[in-house]
Amino acid sequence: MEIIKVEHLKKDFIIYEKEPGLKGVIKSFYNAKKIIKKAVDDVSFTINQGEIIGYIGPNGAGKSTTIKMLTGILTPTSGEVKVDSVIPYQKRTLNAKKIGVVFGQRTQLWWDLPLIESFTVLKEIYEISDIDYKERLSYFSNLFGLDEFIKQPVRQLSLGQRMKADIVASLLHNPKILFLDEPTIGLDVIAKENIRKTLKDIHDKYQTTIILTTHDLADIEELCDRIMMIDQGKIIYDGSLETIKAKFGSKKIVCFTLKADSMMDLTVFDRLKKKDPDLIASIEDSKLTVVFNKLKIKVGDIITPVLAQTDVLDIDISDDHLENIIKAIYKNGF
Ligand SMILES: Nc1ncnc2c1ncn2[C@@H]1O[C@H](COP(=O)(O)OP(=O)(O)O)[C@@H](O)[C@H]1O
Ligand SMILES: [Mg+2]
Repeated sequence: MEIIKVEHLKKDFIIYEKEPGLKGVIKSFYNAKKIIKKAVDDVSFTINQGEIIGYIGPNGAGKSTTIKMLTGILTPTSGEVKVDSVIPYQKRTLNAKKIGVVFGQRTQLWWDLPLIESFTVLKEIYEISDIDYKERLSYFSNLFGLDEFIKQPVRQLSLGQRMKADIVASLLHNPKILFLDEPTIGLDVIAKENIRKTLKDIHDKYQTTIILTTHDLADIEELCDRIMMIDQGKIIYDGSLETIKAKFGSKKIVCFTLKADSMMDLTVFDRLKKKDPDLIASIEDSKLTVVFNKLKIKVGDIITPVLAQTDVLDIDISDDHLENIIKAIYKNGF
């Protein structure tokens, strides 16, 4: 069932460019140069209930701006946005009851209050019943080990504890939809893993629809059924990770460490290039690297001629990293 619908959504920011220096400040009152930044530029998508979506893109691509329009913090310049039948910026309070929001870069908790007091305040704001509140708090305490730090003021929490606290705060009222903007940013591996596991658990238990922006592709690999990729305000890919891997993930890399000063004639690969024109072989500092399509060439066909020709100390075989694949899509499109 469709829960979010976005059509031709746009957000322009008007930026006034000043000339540097005091003269620039005075001058800028009269004729500052007006620049229109298209932060989100004609974006359309629909999201079904229960999906977990990874919203990815380079810095400044428009991810946070999209999330802010979905959560009602920003009003679109044009286009339509509906979240569970509500237009978020028109009905902010009603929308707030249906959604949970976490901005990894800043907390929505009260800095000086002990964490538990922030939760109590939220319980009142969202009119959560005693029974529900108790049930959810003990559920999250188990997942996140909240007891360790729930009595401390928020400002004393570590970044990982603070992020967990923010996630709990966003979920106390059991929203249908959870928006997470960079929920694992700056966290250590263990805290990241804990957060991913918890999000999965919450999704299994409540079928919460989850939309998260992230720079960490492990978040995507472990959590998301679907990826939306945005670049310069435009969606450049919307689909599964499998599709990306099937199209771009067929590259394999074989790296040989050669004995110092050994000779290697790269024309041995000419025959293989007929099978895979994209094959690349290069040598640098006694390292021979061959990148090729594993659907077209077998690893053995690469290794055999090399071993026949030169002294090899070590061989390392790997798949192309997802990170490289994603970078290539930003650069060349899907
Ligand atoms: N309040 C604002 N005023 C002016 N420009 C903004 C504002 N918020 C974001 N931008 C610009 O809009 C673009 C998209 O920003 P953002 O959505 O934050 O990107 P992301 O979250 O993908 O890194 C960037 O170029 C950013 O500088
Ligand atoms: Mg952002």
